[in-house]
Formats: sequence, structure tokens, C-alpha cells
Amino acid sequence: MLPTCWLTSSASAASPMSMMIWPQWLAKDKKIRLWYNRAMENQQQHKKIIVIYTSMRRGNSERLGDAFSKGAEAAGHDVEKIYLRDQTIQYCTGCEACEHTGRCVINDDAEKIVRKMVWADVVALALPVYFGNIPGQLKTLFDRMNAVFRQPYRFRKVVVLATADQNRPEMFDGVWQSVESWLLAFPKAALAEKIGVGGVNRRGEIEGHAALRQAEDLGRRL
Ligand SMILES: Cc1cc2nc3c(=O)[nH]c(=O)nc-3n(C[C@H](O)[C@H](O)[C@H](O)COP(=O)(O)O)c2cc1C
Repeated sequence: MLPTCWLTSSASAASPMSMMIWPQWLAKDKKIRLWYNRAMENQQQHKKIIVIYTSMRRGNSERLGDAFSKGAEAAGHDVEKIYLRDQTIQYCTGCEACEHTGRCVINDDAEKIVRKMVWADVVALALPVYFGNIPGQLKTLFDRMNAVFRQPYRFRKVVVLATADQNRPEMFDGVWQSVESWLLAFPKAALAEKIGVGGVNRRGEIEGHAALRQAEDLGRRL
């Protein structure tokens, strides 16, 4: 059976700048309006994109993430890649100290990654499907975001780039659901784009798949 690819999209939420309320006297000032319009254009053109590579191997989801990153870079966006295999991220212990302090008591790489995620415009998650769901390393990172979900955040768009062995669309349902459950804590952000590539199991089996072009195009048109 041929590998298939499912691609869906929805409109992104408004940017924080576009939601600003201006005092009358400031809104009437031509120079201020010009500056604001330029800033808005600049903001729309150059987005900060964090790509989280979650697989422990250099495999299919990484290749898909790279295609997306290539497109985003070609469009002039600022892309930062984070490989979870190079990071130390401990489990949330449920101590709930962060509920009072806004900071996690565990001193590892999670805090810096979480900060980058919430202050990006777009967060892209490149992931292998594990038992019909997101891999545990990504869930552990989501759990460590308990410290920040009541605080201001910038990201509005989440992109998921997933690969799986089985070539059935329902194999990705658990992934979309998990990401959407995580985003319930960040209601201004949405799972805006998702690509699920089935039928790719061996490392590098995705090479030549049409989904690579789709991921690159997606990065280009963010
Ligand atoms: C622990 C584990 C669980 C997996 N569970 C599934 C699964 O439920 N469904 C499926 O289609 N593929 C499953 N796979 C296969 C991977 O999703 C597939 O090989 C994927 O392309 C790997 O991506 P990577 O090369 O980026 O790691 C599993 C693989 C592993 C190692």
C-alpha cells in the first residue's frame, strides 16, 4: 500500500500587536501610524519559529521537520531547532511549587525550551507516533509547562509534523487530541496545521515522499 499524507489547516489567531487598543491622540498621529504599520508588516513577514524535534533518532520525523524548516527559512523566517535528544528534561514531580512562584523547582533544560516556545510566533512539533500518541519525551515537556500556562505568552500557531509506520489516518488521532488537550491551557494558540505521514517505519524511509514537499510548502507559506 502506498504511504499517504493527511494535511489540514485552519486560520491562525490574531497577533498580539493587532489586538492593541490605541488612545485616540496616538492613533491620529501619522508618524506613529506609519511606524505601527511597518512594525506590523515586519512582524507578519519575519516570524520566530521554534521547531522541536522529539525523536531520539535521526529519522523520518526529523526529515519532515527539516523540510518544514527549509521552507520557513527560505521565506525569511527566523527558525530555531531544538532536539530533545540533546536535552535533559526531567518528569514533573507534581510538587505544585510553580503554582505559587511561576517557576519550576527542577533545574534542567526544560525552562529555557519552554520560554522559547511561549515567546515564539509558531511552535512546530516534529514527532514519531508511539502507540497511537505523541512520544513520552514530548509529553514530559508539555507537563513541565505547568509553570507558565497562567502567564502571558506569544505563540498562536502550532504545527504538527508526525510520522508513523501504519498507513491509516486514525493512527494520528491520538496525536492531534493530545496536542489539542495541551493547548486547552493556552487558549489563544491553535493546532493550525498538521501533516501525518503513514507507511514510514525504517529510518529514512520517508525520503522521496510527497509529504516532504508539502512540509516545505507549509513552512514557506506560514
Ligand atoms: C515505541 C514505538 C512505538 C510505536 N508506535 C507506533 C504506532 O502506534 N503506530 C505506528 O504506526 N507506528 C508506530 N511506531 C513506528 C514509528 O512511529 C515510525 O517508525 C516513525 O516513522 C518513526 O519516526 P522517527 O524515525 O522520526 O523516529 C512506533 C515506534 C516505536 C519505537
